Parts: sequence; C-alpha cells; structure tokens
Amino acid sequence: MKILAIETSCDETAAAVVEDGRVALSNVIASQVEEHRIYGGVVPEIASRRHSEAISGVVRQALADAQTGISDIDAVGVTYAPGLIGALLVGVNFAKGLAMSAGLPLVAVHHLRAHIAANYLAFPELEPPFLCLVVSGGHSHIVMVEDYTHFKVMGRTRDDAAGECYDKVARAMGMPYPGGVSLDRRAAQGNPNAFNLPRPRVEGSPYDFSFSGLKTAVINRLHNAEQKGELLNLDDLAASFQQTAVDMLIENTLLAAKDTSASAIVLAGGVSANSALRAQMSDNCSRLGIRLFYPPLSLCGDNAAMVGSQAFYEFGVNPAAGLDLNARATMPIDNSINN
Ligand code: KG4
Ligand code: ZN
Repeated sequence: MKILAIETSCDETAAAVVEDGRVALSNVIASQVEEHRIYGGVVPEIASRRHSEAISGVVRQALADAQTGISDIDAVGVTYAPGLIGALLVGVNFAKGLAMSAGLPLVAVHHLRAHIAANYLAFPELEPPFLCLVVSGGHSHIVMVEDYTHFKVMGRTRDDAAGECYDKVARAMGMPYPGGVSLDRRAAQGNPNAFNLPRPRVEGSPYDFSFSGLKTAVINRLHNAEQKGELLNLDDLAASFQQTAVDMLIENTLLAAKDTSASAIVLAGGVSANSALRAQMSDNCSRLGIRLFYPPLSLCGDNAAMVGSQAFYEFGVNPAAGLDLNARATMPIDNSINN
C-alpha cells in the first residue's frame, strides 16, 4: 500500500510517499528555518503563508521522486495535530482536496505518533511494545507504545519541553535559532562538570520532567556574569547544561524502563538528534542489556516519511477521516481522534 503523506505542523513543508509503513520511496522537505531565524523563533503567520506557497510543489516533487502518479497512491495521510493551527490547516486542507479529487481515503496522523514511527522506517525489525522517549521542540514524553496505535503516557514535562529549553538557553548564549544543534556542538568542546546546575525533580511523579528551573539557572548565570563584566567560558556552560538536561532525560527513562521491565527503548523527536543523549543512552542500554533504537539524523526532525509510516498503521485499524477533518493545536498522544 502506497501512502502520500503531508506534514505542515511547524516550519517544514514536507511530503513523502511511503510503502507499507516501512519504506520511504521519497521524502521531500522545504524548510523555512532561514526565514524564521531573523526573528529568533517561528512566526506562525509567516509559517502558514510559506506552507501555502510551497505545498503543491513539494507534493509534486514527492510523487516525482517516488516515480509514482496520484493514480498509484492508495491513501493520503496528513498531520492534523498537535502544532501551529494555521500551519496545520494548510496541510489538512490540501490533503482533503487531494483525497476528494482523487477519490482516496484520508488518514489523520498525530505528529508525535509520527515521530515515533520514524524508527519503523529505519529499523524493519522494530515492533511494539517498547518504551519511547519523545523529545521535540514542543513536547517531552515518556510513552509506553503498547502497539502501533495505542500509547500510554507515563511521564511528561510540567513546563518547558526539552527542545524548547535547549532553544531558549542557546538564544541566551547568542546562538541562532533553532539553537539545539548549535548548543550540542558547542557542548562537545566544553567541560560538563564546570558549572553546578540544578536538576529539578517533580515530587511524587518520578517520570515527569521540569526543565524551566534549569533554563532559568543558566540564563541567570549569564545575566550575573554580564552585570559583573565577568567572562564565562560558554563551551563549559553549554557542556554543563547539556550534561544536566541529558542526565534528567536518561534518569527518568531508565527508571520507567526498570519499572515496566522494558527490553527496548526508542528515542524520537528533534532532540533525539542530540549527540550526548544518543551516546549516553547507548552506554546505559548496553550496560543494562536493553535494545536501543533512534532514528538516523535525517529522520529526527520534522518530515513526512514518518507521517506516511504512522498513517499506514492508523489506516489498518481506524476508519478513514471524514472530509470535515479539522486541525488541532493540542491533542494528547493517547487520546487521538482515532481512538
Ligand atoms: O521534532 P522537531 O523537529 O519539531 C517539533 O515537533 O517540535 O524538534 C525540534 C527541536 C528544536 O527545539 C531543536 O532545537 C531540537 O529539536 N534539536 C536539538 C538537536 N537537534 C534539534 N536539540 C538538542 N540537540 C540537538 N542536536
Ligand atoms: Zn516534530
């Protein structure tokens, strides 16, 4: 079964053709990041307009790269939630028009479920159940993936998402948006033990995260240094921040793995590209005899191949979405419109 998938939840206009949930025949991404960089973050209004301009070309390219025409496609999958509402609406409405004109079923896909599915494209042997750490710019969850379409949220952030925390700290350190990747590179050159930073825990909820205290501590340290005219070693501060954030992510995930006797851990979302998270999670999982999966860098960020993968599994168990499908800015991963 070939699914044409569309993703417009944030600042990437993306389309892909995916076969049977596991093979990406094409994966086209038009990124707007350069345009948003001058504002230090995504400007929703601009994102929607750029999606409108780019979407038909991106979809056409995805079909061409896959050497297919719309007549070879069996369904249209689209991210409908969560994300920027105006951005999502561009993809949802384009997908509806395409599904209606080509007489194809429409499949609504939850963005975080799609991030998890990026791993199905990279690892043919990977099947649920497994424990997943989903860390993106907007969400940080520890999720038990019971099967392809059933999820149990075990832990979540109480304030900032991990990627948001990375981006805000990077911005305070003068790095361009999106700062996560720059901060990761900078951290590799510094001493992770140079600064002692807080590692907040959520009382009574051992799997939940709280990143805002860590973010504020780094920003305060920068402001204090500026006021005193003190020169901080930014490589060391980046390394200390990264070590603290990664320790928090790993500690809670391993605790959840222990309590559920999980034999496999999967990383997903933009922050799963983080070099320290990948390396240190690998070391821990080898020591504990747990299998670890994380997507190749090309599938960590937003893309439509992951949407096409998840759409295949949603289509297998749920009725097609109606043409009255609406976009949603928020939607829990375990309570999608599909189930
Ligand atoms: O999943 P994603 O592409 O978009 C959302 O769904 O939010 O995640 C984007 C987030 C951004 O906050 C970005 O800074 C972060 O992922 N990110 C990283 C790295 N690469 C991307 N954070 C830390 N280290 C990285 N190497
Ligand atoms: Zn994403």
